[in-house]
Amino acid sequence: MHFAVRAAMAGRILPVVSVLVAVAVCAMGEAAATAAKVPALYVFGDSTADVGNNNYLAGAAVPRANFPHNGVDFPTSRPTGRFSNGYNGVDFLAVNMGFRRSPPPFLAVANRTGNQVFRGLQGANFASAGSGILDTTGDSIIPMSKQVEQFATVQRNVSAHIGNEAAENVLSRSMFLVSTGGNDVFAFFSRNSTPTADEKQQFVANLVALYANHVKDLYVLGARKFAVIDVPPIGCCPYPRSLHPLGACIDVLNELARGLNKGVKDAMHGLSLSFSGLKYSIGSSHAVVQSIMKHPQRLGFKEVTTACCGSGRFNGGSGCTPNATLCDNRHEYLFWDLLHPTHATSKLAAVAIYNGSLRFAAPINFRQLVEDQH
Ligand SMILES: *[C@@H]1O[C@H](CO)[C@@H](O)[C@H](O)[C@H]1NC(C)=O
Ligand SMILES: *[C@@H]1O[C@H](CO)[C@@H](O)[C@H](O)[C@H]1NC(C)=O
Ligand SMILES: *[C@@H]1O[C@H](CO)[C@@H](O)[C@H](O)[C@H]1NC(C)=O
Ligand SMILES: *[C@@H]1O[C@H](CO)[C@@H](O)[C@H](O)[C@H]1NC(C)=O
Repeated sequence: MHFAVRAAMAGRILPVVSVLVAVAVCAMGEAAATAAKVPALYVFGDSTADVGNNNYLAGAAVPRANFPHNGVDFPTSRPTGRFSNGYNGVDFLAVNMGFRRSPPPFLAVANRTGNQVFRGLQGANFASAGSGILDTTGDSIIPMSKQVEQFATVQRNVSAHIGNEAAENVLSRSMFLVSTGGNDVFAFFSRNSTPTADEKQQFVANLVALYANHVKDLYVLGARKFAVIDVPPIGCCPYPRSLHPLGACIDVLNELARGLNKGVKDAMHGLSLSFSGLKYSIGSSHAVVQSIMKHPQRLGFKEVTTACCGSGRFNGGSGCTPNATLCDNRHEYLFWDLLHPTHATSKLAAVAIYNGSLRFAAPINFRQLVEDQH
């Protein structure tokens, strides 16, 4: 049945292309067949999106979450590299798009060139915890520029397998999800915790310009539909709160996050005017987290300052290690660990961003971006 739907959709494009797409869909086989609403989902970014790439990197400095209590609520209670008790936001967005969860980490499939990923189907997740927009952000991670290069190898494989025209077609209908920026802000703050207005403005302007460059690079490789996740009020995470003498949010971090979000919003608008066929939606994890902090009870939460798993003040003093404290009522917590949301928060965020009002996704929501037929 899915097959019929896909074939019918493919029928609207050039006949040659439709045959190629139909063949590709056939080759997916029963096991991988889904009700996916787009051919593929490609994911770029940091720990808010990583589903296990960092597990494949070597070294003690690599940011990891491939140990308990991470994954305690994942199917079969498996730690996977996700910084969550269960799914992360990308998993839930992928579910909304009709996939089972996030596509696999790129490094898990990179050597399997026969994989459907190399025919433009399902997609891959290139996100790496600790990375940022800048190449200099993070240590022992995969920076965004490298993630884009890794996608370029996928794009070349897709073209080689199904032909340039079919590759262009399938990629133009696929979703390109980007969730990054928080680590750049943290890195800047750790070098200069009391920046002047000028320093803040310059830092944000530089970040936005580089963000736009990454988007342009992806566009050149065939990306057309950009699903951007903005930066939440990171100054209110348990870790920054644990550093504040009064346990309050660290305002500078929130201010930089807002500045970056505003800049990226304007930049995406500009890019959509100058690059033919570029469509985008900005999903606001910032607005979701703010809503939860403002109306926790109404949205089903009880604890919005302390992390479920960690140690020290607000459980913000360490990551979620096997010997850290673990809360029982995990679905009532906004934060899973010192910096990341719970499965429950991610689920709510995905619903709001996928199908919510302009407050949560603009200028269109992710569903409208998925359904857009150019
Ligand atoms: C993929 O191949 C490279 C080069 O041979 C190797 O270093 C890497 O460990 C392999 N990755 C996986 C996941 O097997
Ligand atoms: C296809 O992907 C493989 C594995 O990532 C990579 O080594 C190879 O260079 C790619 N092929 C092309 C033509 O880019
Ligand atoms: C957990 O164990 C690690 C390694 O033994 C140690 O560095 C860390 O401080 C411990 N954390 C807690 C919360 O006890
Ligand atoms: C999306 O939102 C619309 C309008 O608010 C609603 O009618 C529809 O049922 C929602 N769809 C899903 C899949 O949640």
